[in-house]
Amino acid sequence: MSIIQFPEDFYWGAATAAYQVEGAWNEGGRGLSIWDTYAHTPGNIRNGDNGDIACDSYHRYEEDIAYMKELGLHTYRFSISWSRVFPDGTGELNKEGLDYYHRLVDKLLENGIEPFCTLYHWDFPQALQDTGGWKNRDTIDAYVRYAREMFKQFQGKIKYWTTFNEPWCVSFKAHYIGDLAPGEKNLQSALDVAHHLMIAHGRTVKLFRKLGIPGQIGYAPNVSWREPFSSTQEDMDACRRRIGWMVEWFMDPLFKGEYPEFMAAAFEAGGAKVNIQPGDMEDIKQPIDFLGINYYMGSLGRYQKDNGLFELEDIDEGYERTDFNWPIYPEGLYKVLLHITERYGPISIYITENGACYDGEPIQGKVEDTKRIAYLSKHLTQLNRAMKAGVPVKGYMAWSLLDNFEWADGYSRRFGLIHVDFNSLIRTPKDSFFWYKKVIANGWLEV
Ligand code: BGC
Repeated sequence: MSIIQFPEDFYWGAATAAYQVEGAWNEGGRGLSIWDTYAHTPGNIRNGDNGDIACDSYHRYEEDIAYMKELGLHTYRFSISWSRVFPDGTGELNKEGLDYYHRLVDKLLENGIEPFCTLYHWDFPQALQDTGGWKNRDTIDAYVRYAREMFKQFQGKIKYWTTFNEPWCVSFKAHYIGDLAPGEKNLQSALDVAHHLMIAHGRTVKLFRKLGIPGQIGYAPNVSWREPFSSTQEDMDACRRRIGWMVEWFMDPLFKGEYPEFMAAAFEAGGAKVNIQPGDMEDIKQPIDFLGINYYMGSLGRYQKDNGLFELEDIDEGYERTDFNWPIYPEGLYKVLLHITERYGPISIYITENGACYDGEPIQGKVEDTKRIAYLSKHLTQLNRAMKAGVPVKGYMAWSLLDNFEWADGYSRRFGLIHVDFNSLIRTPKDSFFWYKKVIANGWLEV
C-alpha cells in the first residue's frame, strides 16, 4: 500500500454537460439543438433513446447540488445549452432559459462550489445548423456574440470558462466519422469545422481579455495516446499521426500559431486541405489561462499500410476494457501530459474529464462499482506521477457526476458516480461516490 498525495490547493470536481443531464428539451422557451434533431431521427441512437428528459436536472438541480455538497466537490463542470439561452442561436435572448443557469450558478455558489462553465458541449442550435453550421464562417460571429452575452451575464459569478469541449469530436467525429450530430462523413467538412472552431475559440479569448472579465479562460480538447508497437520509424510515425490528430492539430495553432506540417500532409493525402484566411492564425493564437484535458483511453499502435487516414492499426488485445469496450491505459495519461508540457511549455492543466463506463444496477440501495474505483485510482496515480515530473496540473474532474445520456449510446452506458434510474429518476450514490468523497476529504488516495 502506498499513499498518493495531492497538493492542498488541488481542485477536485466532477463534470456533466447540458444535453446529457438537463432534459426539459422543450421547456422554458428553449430552442431546438442539433441533438434534438439527431436523437429524434430513428436509427441514430441506441434503443431509440433521446435527451428529452435525461436526468431531469433542469428541475432537479438542487438535489444534484446536495449530492455535490455531500461529495465535497470544490468545483462542478457543467455546460450552458446555447439554444436554451438563444433559441435561434442569434436573435433574442431567452430570459427564462438564462434564469435557469442563474439559479444553478447561485445555488452552487451558496454551497461553496465553484462553477466551471463550458460554453459549448455539442448541443448546437439547429437554426444555425440550417444555415451551414460550423462549416459556415458566419457561425464564428454567432458564437462570439453568444459568449459575450454569457460573460456579461455571469461575470463575477463564473470564474472558470471553457470555450469548447472536445473540438476533435465536434469536427472529426461529427463530420468525418459521422457518429455524432450532425452525422456527416466528409474529411474536408471536418477540417473546415475544426478550423472555424479554433477561430471562434481564439476570438472569444480575445474578447474575454478586452472586456476584462475577471477569471480564467481555457479550452478542453480530448486526447488519447498510442504507444509505438516497435521502435521502427514506421510504427513511430503512424502513432505520431494518431496522437497528432487530437493533440497537435488542436494545440499547435493555439500555442504556436501554425498547423503541424506532418498532419497537414496526412490530410492532404486523404484529399483535404485546411482553408486559412489572412488573420486566422493570429486570431487563434491567444494566450489561454489553462488547458482542459479529457482523457479516457489509449493503446499500442502499429503501422499498417492503407489502414485509414493514418495507416495505423490499434493493438489493443490484452488490455482490460471498460463496458464501453475502451482499452484502459492509465500510463497514456502520464505520457500525453508529458508530451503536451514538453511541446508547449508549462501551461496550467485541469483534467476536465476522466472516467469509466461500467453498467450496474443498485442492489438493496448499493451499487458496487469496484471496477470504476480501480479505473479512477489508476488514472489519479498516473496523474500524480505526471505532476511529480513537472506537469502543472491544478485539478481533476471525474466524468461524470451522474449516469446520463451517453450520446449515440443513449442510456445504455453508465459513467456516473451516482446511479440514475431513468424511469423513476431516483439517484443512488455508488460505491465510487463514497470512495471519491474520501479522496477529496483526505487529499490523497491509497493504492
Ligand atoms: C464527452 C462526454 C461523454 C464522455 C464519454 C467525452 O467524449 O465529452 O460528453 O459522455 O466522453 O463518452
